[in-house]
Amino acid sequence: MAGEERNLTNRDDSRPVRVKVDNVKKIYNGRNGEMVALNGVTLDIHDNEFICVVGPSGCGKSTLLNIIAGLLEPTSGAVYCDGKEVKGTGTDRGVVFHQYVLFPWLTVKKIPVTKIEQMAGCLL
Ligand SMILES: Nc1ncnc2c1ncn2[C@@H]1O[C@H](COP(=O)(O)OP(=O)(O)O)[C@@H](O)[C@H]1O
Ligand SMILES: [Mg+2]
Repeated sequence: MAGEERNLTNRDDSRPVRVKVDNVKKIYNGRNGEMVALNGVTLDIHDNEFICVVGPSGCGKSTLLNIIAGLLEPTSGAVYCDGKEVKGTGTDRGVVFHQYVLFPWLTVKKIPVTKIEQMAGCLL
C-alpha cells in the first residue's frame, strides 16, 4: 500500500458511508530511518458492508486497521467514523487481535487491575 495510491471510493454504492479513510499516510521512524507503511490510502466502507483487506506480509494491513481503531495516528490524512474524525479509540469501533496483546511476562495475579480496566475501556 506504500507504493501507489489506492482510491476505492468510486464504487457504485448508495448506502451511507460509515467509515471513510481519507488519503492516509503513515511513516514509521524505525531503527533504519523512515519507513512509509501507507501512502495515499483512500477507502469508503458503507453501511452493512463487509470488507477484507488482503495483501502480502508487511504491506500495511495492520497499520491501516490500527489507525481506523484509533490505536495509531496517521502521519497525514484522516479517518472518519459516521462523519466524526477518529482521534483515538472509541466505543463505536472494536478490534479483535490475531495475537496475544496482554502481558505474557506477568501472571494473572500480577497484572495491575488498573491496567485491565484501561484495556477493557479501550475495547468496550
Ligand atoms: N512500529 C513500527 N516501526 C517501524 N516499522 C514498522 C512498525 N510497525 C510496522 N512497521 C513496518 O511497516 C510495514 C507495514 O507493517 P504492517 O502494517 O504490520 O503490515 P501487515 O500487517 O500488512 O503485515 C512493514 O514494513 C513493517 O515492518
Ligand atoms: Mg499484520
